[in-house]
Parts: sequence; structure tokens; C-alpha cells
Amino acid sequence: MTDPAAAVSDEASPDSPPKAPSSGRVLSGNRPTGPLHLGNYVGAVKNWVDLQDEFECLFMVADWHALTSDYADSSHLAEYSRGMMLDWIGAGLDPEKSVLFIQSQVKEHAELALLLGMFTPIPWLERTPSFKDMQAQMKDKELNTHGFLGYPVLQAADIILYKADVVPVGEDQLAHLELCREIVRRVHHFTGVAIFPEPKPKLSRVPKLLGTDGRKMSKSWNNCVYLSDTAEGVWAKVKEMVTDPARVRRTDPGTPEICSVFSYHKIFTADESDEIATDCRSAAIGCVDCKKRLAASIGGLLDPMRERRAAFDAKPEALDEIIDDGNTRARKVACETMGELREVLHLPA
Ligand code: TRP
Ligand code: SF4
Repeated sequence: MTDPAAAVSDEASPDSPPKAPSSGRVLSGNRPTGPLHLGNYVGAVKNWVDLQDEFECLFMVADWHALTSDYADSSHLAEYSRGMMLDWIGAGLDPEKSVLFIQSQVKEHAELALLLGMFTPIPWLERTPSFKDMQAQMKDKELNTHGFLGYPVLQAADIILYKADVVPVGEDQLAHLELCREIVRRVHHFTGVAIFPEPKPKLSRVPKLLGTDGRKMSKSWNNCVYLSDTAEGVWAKVKEMVTDPARVRRTDPGTPEICSVFSYHKIFTADESDEIATDCRSAAIGCVDCKKRLAASIGGLLDPMRERRAAFDAKPEALDEIIDDGNTRARKVACETMGELREVLHLPA
């Protein structure tokens, strides 16, 4: 299992020297399974946006990974991949700073995954927690497949193809990162040549955002606020959010700690959340006003995103160009790495 100390920490201790400009390469990605929601943003994409100024970054739409579980119906794949790019650009990923690309458009991912598969013992894959967990969660899908078992091998290929040093991910991906490091060590052991860095995870510190109904945020429960939602759409969802159930009348004091509206305020109205908590406890603020305030905070975040997104949505050629350019830049690095690996493995160039 992952040694937590091996993860790159976000936390600077008070007496640590000022951060030297970091160097190194960052790679991360998402499966295009639908529009991005606020949970995806605070848990991942926001960190990526910040990392762009510190590292050389590549962000990948993992469409082949989406197929590992959704192979039976891929009719939405192209639409979701494009939508993900739009959501990313809206959220602040900048094609001038970062390489934004689509996994399946850089075929070297497949070649490298094939080669890494030669080195990867099947029991390593079978004991990956996500393998059994996802099979149990998605009983309606046949996931006892070669492709799904190989999910972490493909993910390892994604990362080391670019010799990434740092991979910003959520906790659920730590086991995949550890497996990637193990595969790298095994390749180096047999080939006697250390061509790949061992990538380190970079965990985000943000607590998991719950759905508007207080359950886990999930597309299938219609409890997510999407980055592309309109102001009216946001209000419709915020209005229905569950509050402190004991607060029946406007004059009843509330308990913000058990209210999902307040858990959102802590993230989206962070500067004023102490005041909101006090006003809730003394019944100085009512739940409807409290929700209006939350919708306004979320609006403050999403309005500029929606505008940026719409500008590119209206110019499909501009988006095509960004994607083509990202794919080309990714391919260039990928081809170099594969050239090196083929040589080490005595394969024809
Ligand atoms: N498995 C990741 C997820 O579900 C997506 C992903 C694919 C990824 N390839 C990656 C993340 C490479 C980081 C690095 O979130
Ligand atoms: Fe929740 Fe706000 Fe109502 Fe308090 S006032 S119970 S924090 S919605």
C-alpha cells in the first residue's frame, strides 16, 4: 500500500523555507462519463488549474478508460469527451499553459499498455481494490473482462508515457498509482535500464462534497450541481437541499453542523461561513435566505466558467484546434518515450 509520506504534501510547515519553483511534469485525467460537477471541480480540477503555474502539465480525457466499463453502449462517448474539454477550459485549464488531449488520439498509450502487460503479474491486478469494488457496484455490467482487469495497466501507461513525476488524484486512485510504481520497478529490474521516473501521487485536501440530498454525489441520483448548469438550474437544486430537520419554524435555532447547505457554505462561502453558522444558531437567518446566499456563492464561481465554456461551445473549430494541438504535443513526447522503450526491449524502431 502507499506510504502516505511518499505522497507530495500540499501542506508547508510554518518554518519550512519558501517554496522553490518546482520542476517536473504533471499528468492527470478523467473518464468522460458525463458533465463535470462541483465535486469533480473542488476535488480535482481546481487543483489542476493551480498546478498549471508550477509545473509542466498534461491533462487527458481518458476515453479508453471509459470504455473499460461502458463498452456495451459508447454512443455518448464523443459528446462526453468534447463536453469534458469544454468543462475543463471553462474551469480554467488553459491550453496555452497545459497540454489538453484525448487518450485514444495518442495510440502509443495502447502500445505501452500492451508492453507493460507483459511485465504485470495477473494477481497484482486481481488484488487491486477498485477491481472487486467496481464489479460489486456495477452488477449490471460484465466487468470480468481483460480490458477492465487491465485498467491500472493502461493508467500506468498514461502516466509513464510522459515520464510524469507527479499525478494529482483523489484517494480512490492511490492503489492505481502504487501499482504503477511497482510496474515501473519491475520493468527496470528486468531490462536493467531505468527509463521511467516513479510517479508520486499528489492528494487534494478538500473534503468530499456530498450531493444536494446529503448522499454521495452521483450522476445517477440527480443530486449534482454541474459546472454547466444555468443559474436557474443551480437554484432549483439548492432550493431542494436538505437542511437541519429539527429547524421546523423560522424562529427555531439551527445546527449548521448537520446541514448540507452549511457543508457547501464551508467550501463555497468559506470567508463568511463562521458568520453564517452563528446566524443559523441564533435563528438570525432563515433557511431560504441561507440557500439564496449559497446559490449566489456558487453563481460567483460558475458564472465566469459558463461564459468561457459558451464562448468555445459557439466556436467548434476553435475547440477542434485546441484538441488537435494538444494531441500533437502529447504525441511528440509519447513517440520519444516509445522509441526509447523499443530500443531497450530490442524491438525494431
Ligand atoms: N482512473 C482515473 C479516474 O477514474 C482516470 C485516469 C486515467 C487517470 N488515466 C489516468 C488519472 C492517469 C491519473 C493519471 O479518475
Ligand atoms: Fe442550514 Fe442555513 Fe438553515 Fe442553518 S440556516 S439550517 S445552515 S440552511
